[in-house]
Amino acid sequence: MASARRERPAWRTALVTGASSGIGHALARELAAAGVHVFLGARREVPLRALADHIRARGGAADVVLLDVSQADACVARVRQLDQDCGGLELVVANAGAGPRRREGAPSYQWEVLAEAFHTNFCGAAATLTAALPAMVARGRGHLVGISSLASFGALPDAASYCAPKAGLSMLLDCLRLDLAGSGVAVTAVHAGFVRTPMLEDTHAQPQRLEPDVFATRVVARLARRPARIDIPQPLALGARLFAGLPARVRALALGRVKR
Ligand SMILES: NC(=O)c1ccc[n+]([C@@H]2O[C@H](COP(=O)([O-])OP(=O)(O)OC[C@H]3O[C@@H](n4cnc5c(N)ncnc54)[C@H](OP(=O)(O)O)[C@@H]3O)[C@@H](O)[C@H]2O)c1
Repeated sequence: MASARRERPAWRTALVTGASSGIGHALARELAAAGVHVFLGARREVPLRALADHIRARGGAADVVLLDVSQADACVARVRQLDQDCGGLELVVANAGAGPRRREGAPSYQWEVLAEAFHTNFCGAAATLTAALPAMVARGRGHLVGISSLASFGALPDAASYCAPKAGLSMLLDCLRLDLAGSGVAVTAVHAGFVRTPMLEDTHAQPQRLEPDVFATRVVARLARRPARIDIPQPLALGARLFAGLPARVRALALGRVKR
């Protein structure tokens, strides 16, 4: 965290979900270093408190918000309360997420395998993003950010639990952006490639992998311009978009999923 950066921040207050680990942890540190009062959301209290202490020790402002986004109704109520208590959230980053799920002996399309990631990565993100939205619109000011993935661009093998809710999140963000045009509320979809966090499994190649701090620095710098989307890293994102645009049979062949 670069402690002495204190120019006018683009936002006064920000909720970052999934701040107890990985990308959310790094984003929260980066925002706090830029002078934003960050609200750190996740389920695990100990790492959140440690991060809040770390930020305060460097002169920043941070508070812990215990939150299980997969309990969507409770999540909405908690975020609305926070919005009132803090005098208005200016930035909401829906980052909390569960990685691709697998269960020994169960197919990847079984509901019990899909459920956690669907409730967290789609419903949880949607609840987080829309909870304070009416209040933001009434104030004519705000910024919604969803941490989606390059995996939202097209289907991948055994990854319905991850690709589907991330594609849904990206679509939700696109729809919100259309509906909020002229409202003063910006909407940014972040499509991330590989970032070295506990979520990444070591089982496959991870081209152009970024460190969480590098990712956070680049994303926060670009977010200040309120873009519609951030694809990061761009070369991998371009490759993923081109691949997703190929005919379904060609993609299935390339992914080894066509029986000859
Ligand atoms: N790492 C990558 O390569 C990559 C690539 C593309 C997109 N992403 C996305 O980036 C986001 C962050 O992932 P990460 O890589 O930083 O993984 P991570 O280190 O495992 O962090 C996941 C975070 O989400 C929180 N979380 C999970 N379920 C939650 C729930 N029900 N309620 C509240 N918080 C919850 C976890 O906190 P608690 O356990 O304390 O609740 C943790 O802070 C995810 O949405 C992920 O899909 C990651």
